[in-house]
Amino acid sequence: MNRRLALLTAVFSIAAFTAPAAVNAGLEAGKTTVLVTGANRGIGLEYVNQLTARGWNIIATARKPADAVELNAIAAKNPQVVVEALDVTDHAGIDALAAKYKDQPIDILLLNAGLTPSYPSAMKQLAGVDFDKARESFEVNAIGPLKMIQTFMPHVSASTKKQIVVLSSKAGSFAESPKLPMMYEYRASKAALDMYMYTAAFETARKGLTLVLLSPGQVNTQQDPKMREMMRNMTIEASESVGKQLKVIDSLTTADNGKFLNFEDRREIPW
Ligand SMILES: NC(=O)c1ccc[n+]([C@@H]2O[C@H](COP(=O)([O-])OP(=O)(O)OC[C@H]3O[C@@H](n4cnc5c(N)ncnc54)[C@H](OP(=O)(O)O)[C@@H]3O)[C@@H](O)[C@H]2O)c1
Repeated sequence: MNRRLALLTAVFSIAAFTAPAAVNAGLEAGKTTVLVTGANRGIGLEYVNQLTARGWNIIATARKPADAVELNAIAAKNPQVVVEALDVTDHAGIDALAAKYKDQPIDILLLNAGLTPSYPSAMKQLAGVDFDKARESFEVNAIGPLKMIQTFMPHVSASTKKQIVVLSSKAGSFAESPKLPMMYEYRASKAALDMYMYTAAFETARKGLTLVLLSPGQVNTQQDPKMREMMRNMTIEASESVGKQLKVIDSLTTADNGKFLNFEDRREIPW
């Protein structure tokens, strides 16, 4: 009896030691792994769509996974897509997610989540600047990605591709943003993001990582059907933008570290 008990204990302890952690249950060892923020809609969701077709492991994060209907539907059909809750302004949450995946190399850290202005609020001039929105835009668009790269640097360093791709915008470029008084909150937060990443690229260069900022173009990610229709002729669809962004990402080398690249022609966008 005692021998049988000892045998059972040994078998269970070996199983506990060798079984993959439940958290990584869907992720397959040895496959390219991408972590995408803001994966429940817009460009982030389209990234999940197109990367799922490649059969890659995806850690798809959303602020409210319970409401992420389309993302959950993709994950239900594709076990290598794992949905996680993450608000990029919640630094303790970022730490907890990084700890949960501490042994998981992340080939591409894809920082897509962003606070983008709605069309009417984008047109507001100085008198209409919303200071709460300005602070929130900094937290989401600039400080959030900075905290993400600080925390997930070890995961990216441990991977094969070692890439950090951050969605920025020409709206944050002094050279290429419209010569108009508009999008105060958004433009400044993206300019701050660019400077944070420009600065971090001196560190990623030393570590053999490639960090780039990408402009996705004018993409129709409006949720309101009327706005979607109104913007149709002025924008491209997320499928086209992401398809072209992926061509740029596929072509990245360490020589691109620190660049701000355009999605369709790989042109370097001036700050
Ligand atoms: N669409 C364009 O034309 C365009 C142009 C230039 C640059 N970009 C940039 O490209 C990225 C994606 O744009 P998009 O058009 O797809 O945006 P979107 O449709 O507005 O989606 C934004 C995503 O970010 C998430 N998000 C917002 N605040 C967050 C937070 N605090 N923590 C975590 N996630 C948060 C949203 O989650 P919820 O659903 O929970 O709000 C959503 O998943 C953004 O960084 C944007 O600035 C877009």
